[in-house]
Amino acid sequence: MNKQFLLWPGSKTQLAPRIGAMIPQNTQTYVEPFVGSGAVFFRNGLNNALLSDINTELINTFRVVRDDLDNLIDLLTEYSQRSCQEFYYAIRNLDRDDQAFASLSNLERAARFMYINRRGYCGLYRTNRAGQCNVSYNHNEKRELFNASLLRQCSKQLDQDVQLECMDYVRAIKRAPENSFVYLDPPYVPLSASESFVGYQPGEFGLKQHTELRNLCLELDGRGIKFVQSNSDTEIVRDLYAGFTIETVDVRRKISARTRGQYMTREVLISN
Ligand SMILES: C[S@@+](CC[C@H](N)C(=O)[O-])C[C@H]1O[C@@H](n2cnc3c(N)ncnc32)[C@H](O)[C@@H]1O
Repeated sequence: MNKQFLLWPGSKTQLAPRIGAMIPQNTQTYVEPFVGSGAVFFRNGLNNALLSDINTELINTFRVVRDDLDNLIDLLTEYSQRSCQEFYYAIRNLDRDDQAFASLSNLERAARFMYINRRGYCGLYRTNRAGQCNVSYNHNEKRELFNASLLRQCSKQLDQDVQLECMDYVRAIKRAPENSFVYLDPPYVPLSASESFVGYQPGEFGLKQHTELRNLCLELDGRGIKFVQSNSDTEIVRDLYAGFTIETVDVRRKISARTRGQYMTREVLISN
C-alpha cells in the first residue's frame, strides 16, 4: 500500500486500515469529499474514485502529481537545492501579487504548494482573508522535501479512474453514484465551547455546515449508499447522528503545530 505524499492536519493515517475495512466489498466508486492528503485513499490502495476538496491548490497538486510528475520532480529538486528561509518566503509570497500568481503554471503552483507543505509548519496551508498563505517557515523541519518513488506510486494510483475535483462537499456528496461508498472527514465539531470551529480555507465550517452534512448523510442513506464519517466525540455530533451507528476510537494527535508532543483523544466513526 502507498502512503500519502502530503502532510495534512487531521490526516487519517492511524485510522486508514480501520476505515478501509468498513468499505463494502461490492463498492464500485469510492467518494471522498474532504480528501485532504487522501490518507484513506492511498493507504488502502483504492481506485475508481471521486476525490474532492475545497482547497484549489491541493487539488491542482494532485492533478500535477498524476499528469506532470517528471517536471514536478525536476522543479522540487531545484527547490530543495535552493531551500532556506529567504527562499521559503519568496515562494510563499508569490500570492501577494494577484497578477503574478495568476500567471504561474499549474506545475509551478504545485511545486510551491508541496514546498510550503514540507517547509512550513506541520503541513498547514492556512490563508488570511485576502487568500494569501500565512504559514511561517519551520526552522526545525529536516525531513526530505519529497520522495520521488512515493510520488511515482501515488501518481500511478491517481491515474486509475480517479476524478479529482475542487468543489464544496455539498456538490461532491450529491455526485456520489449508485454503488458508491462515501468517506467523510470534515473539519471537526470543536471539543469545547471555548474552541472555535476549525476553519480550513476558504470559508468556515460551523454548525450550519455540520447540520447540512447530516442532512446529506440522511439523503445518502435514503439512496442506499453506505457512508462513514469521522468527527469529534461531542454532544453535538451524537445528537446530530442519533439513529446512525456511532463507534468511538482513540487516536493520537499533535498538541500543536509548533511542538512535537502528542495527546490521546476520542473521536467517532459514524456509519449507516
Ligand atoms: C480533516 S481534513 C481531511 C483530512 C483527510 N482525511 C486526510 O487524511 O488528510 C478536512 C478537509 O476538508 C476540506 N474542507 C473544508 N471545508 C470544505 C468544504 N466546504 N467543502 C469541501 N472540503 C472542505 C479542507 O480543505 C480539508 O482538506
